[in-house]
Amino acid sequence: MQTNPDLERTGPLLELRGISKRFTGVLALDRVNLDVRVGELHVLFGENGAGKSTLINVVSGTFPPDEGTFRFGGEEIRHLTPQHARAIGISPVFQEFSLVPSLTVEENLFLGREFSSKGVLHTREMRQRAQALIDELGFDLSPSMRVDNLSRAHQQMAEIAKALLGRVRLLILDEPTASLTERETGRLFELIARLKQQNVGLIYVSHRMREIRALADRVTVLRDGRHIRTLDAATSSDSELVELMTGRKIDLLFPTIPQKAGKILVEVENLTLADGSVRDVNFHARAGEITGIAGLVGCGKSELIRAIYGLEPIAGGVVRIDGTPYEFPAPRRSLKCGVAYFPANRIAEGLALSRPIRENASMTVLDLPAFSRFGVLRQGAERTTISAIMERLQLRPPNIERAAGALSGGNRQKVMLGRALTRDLKVFLFDEPSVGIDVGAKLEVYDFMKRLVEAGAAVIVVSSELPEVLALSNRLYVMHNGRIVTELSGVEKTEQNVLASFFSNHLTAEVA
Ligand SMILES: Nc1ncnc2c1ncn2[C@@H]1O[C@H](COP(=O)(O)OP(=O)(O)OP(=O)(O)O)[C@@H](O)[C@H]1O
Ligand SMILES: [Mg+2]
Repeated sequence: MQTNPDLERTGPLLELRGISKRFTGVLALDRVNLDVRVGELHVLFGENGAGKSTLINVVSGTFPPDEGTFRFGGEEIRHLTPQHARAIGISPVFQEFSLVPSLTVEENLFLGREFSSKGVLHTREMRQRAQALIDELGFDLSPSMRVDNLSRAHQQMAEIAKALLGRVRLLILDEPTASLTERETGRLFELIARLKQQNVGLIYVSHRMREIRALADRVTVLRDGRHIRTLDAATSSDSELVELMTGRKIDLLFPTIPQKAGKILVEVENLTLADGSVRDVNFHARAGEITGIAGLVGCGKSELIRAIYGLEPIAGGVVRIDGTPYEFPAPRRSLKCGVAYFPANRIAEGLALSRPIRENASMTVLDLPAFSRFGVLRQGAERTTISAIMERLQLRPPNIERAAGALSGGNRQKVMLGRALTRDLKVFLFDEPSVGIDVGAKLEVYDFMKRLVEAGAAVIVVSSELPEVLALSNRLYVMHNGRIVTELSGVEKTEQNVLASFFSNHLTAEVA
């Protein structure tokens, strides 16, 4: 990579000093310093709720800071707005998506900056520009698709494309790979390398150590809204970073989960979904074991478990829960049959953002006798149970009366997880369980799964993160193009074998 000898002498691209931001009851940022150099990728690292997204919102002009100074390209900036930020080349990709669902990808890309002259929109030019940008990024994304018809991975690609339209001097990525798989992640990393060569500075938020290792020049660790330390990535170890982040030592390995497969609790025969995303699938999951499902984005793995829970229309085939055919699955009935589902998309699926965390976490228990007597909700019982569960998941801040909307992204995920802990269930479907949650919470989730299988539940984990699904599962199915192509267990369950089955099926698909 080229290095520019002038870089050392020019000041930092971004220089924040003493930035504070207070929300009602929470000091989200407490006199934080940060500088980002040109051509540098600077990782923000911290637990859920540490203040990473808030800091990014300050840098992008969304939240005005309560105090502190802000310099960009050597100039002091006051009263930054999102429009002004864009105009000077600060381009954010947020954790929660900002696209307008009813518009197409290209309409979203050009929203507010349409090409026009004399009041005439240059539609063709915009389409060409959008396509050229998407091609350059190497994303498999069609500019004319409506955003609400896109998968989460494709929405993420559109967000990234949108951020790169126009002149960018500082690109901000808040967990950009949370819903991308290996291939798109690879493309994104190539792009990042190109941007660095062009002297673009980057702020990057991630909970994934592998990524931090691959990308970071420097890492700034935040804890409880405070700047803890800024380190050179090359000379700091994973365990050092995690210790600075949490204030304690943590074992970074996946836990060993002893698994003893019992009777079949979920059985799927010739399942085909109405939209064709899953075709003729047969598989089963047993009590006392974790069944993994791996596959590339769009392979149908999420749709498969969503269908079992009743979120995707089934066109044919049979689902059996504990031996009994389960016809026309629907979420409410699924819970009654003992089936719980944890979605990957915590915003679109079921958090009432204006309501307290307590209510959100107990949504599924409202009909249980422990919580209601003669139809009257026993608030005390509810509060005690939910408090204990949220404490186990390390909710930050640990106040269950706050609105769910005031939580950081990872803490919203914990509320979703908390829901299923409040009730007796035997089948647990996890869709991308560790997306967006910090190292400590991840271990809590894995530990939770461990306790579930020990108690004799069947756990099904759909994950795009290969190391995770390989380490957790007792048996692993690999999906491709809506079908199950391989089942691996024991010594065959290796990264090479999973990748090989992706690959061989890619080839056959292309030849066919
Ligand atoms: N709009 C808001 N209103 C009130 N409190 C907020 C708001 N946004 C964030 N907070 C609080 O500010 C703190 C920092 O949140 P932030 O979203 O910056 O965390 P984060 O480091 O991005 O976490 P995560 O890894 O979970 O995304 C948290 O305590 C959060 O509850
Ligand atoms: Mg965040």
